[in-house]
Amino acid sequence: MEAVLAKSAGFCFGVERAVDAVYRVLSEEEKKDESERRPIYTYGAIVHNEQVVKALEDRGVKLLKTKEELSRLEKGILVIRAHGVGEEIYKLLQGKDIEIVDSSCPYVRKIQRLVREHSEKGERVIVMGDPEHPEVQGILGWGKGDVTALKGIEEVEALPDGEGQETFVVAQTTFHIDKFKLVLALFKKKGYHVSVINTICNATFERQSEAKELAGRSDAMVVIGGSSSSNTKKLFEICRAICPNTQLIQTVKDLKFNSDEAIRNVGITAGASTPKEIIEEVLTYVRNEF
Ligand code: F3S
Repeated sequence: MEAVLAKSAGFCFGVERAVDAVYRVLSEEEKKDESERRPIYTYGAIVHNEQVVKALEDRGVKLLKTKEELSRLEKGILVIRAHGVGEEIYKLLQGKDIEIVDSSCPYVRKIQRLVREHSEKGERVIVMGDPEHPEVQGILGWGKGDVTALKGIEEVEALPDGEGQETFVVAQTTFHIDKFKLVLALFKKKGYHVSVINTICNATFERQSEAKELAGRSDAMVVIGGSSSSNTKKLFEICRAICPNTQLIQTVKDLKFNSDEAIRNVGITAGASTPKEIIEEVLTYVRNEF
């Protein structure tokens, strides 16, 4: 059986950078005498992958889930994940003996900067994205004035007519590009005078396009990722629509091929939060065992 791994499988650049940052500070601290080691924290899971979070916890990295927990910190190292955080989080830690290792993805930082600049000038700012998502919440936290997050087309439809109002529009990095185009057309139709910067990151788009292409030339597809990861589920649906023999697995233990089917080549891809080691394990297993 021939196995082909998608180049874009697994962590995007921003997540990889953040995970590497935690491992880097961890190994630096582990080199010190125990009495000198500083506690290491992440605010939110560094990546939506239970195995990675558990492995870090086992080495002493503490996961903080709420702002209250964060505000109680007095000393240590805090790694900020790729989603980024609002300005208030930096302020909350000011004056404390805490080193911030800022691993906000540079693409997210760019949106935060744009929102700050345009809202400071008094423009109305719209962020197209899920207001409940931590990336969007962090972005909103850089606004000064009229900044709103809108989830999708329905929310834009519900707005009153724009009457020529100057509006600056950006998008959450994972917002769908086709939906963004529709939204912009709708703003114009409603009479808003919009200026736009496309802040959508194409890591997700590239991963999906490559998966589609790979599924089209494979007898079977394997999608690796967490059961609660929405981008993994999406990847699975895309592949299954083209290659019905597609399976979604979390680790190599879940892998099953039906021996009655003639499978000559298998395509492998993985969601954005799947670590390299898990992907490589699956790849090696398929190449050696089937
Ligand atoms: Fe990843 Fe950064 Fe894009 S976190 S999905 S590279 S915006």
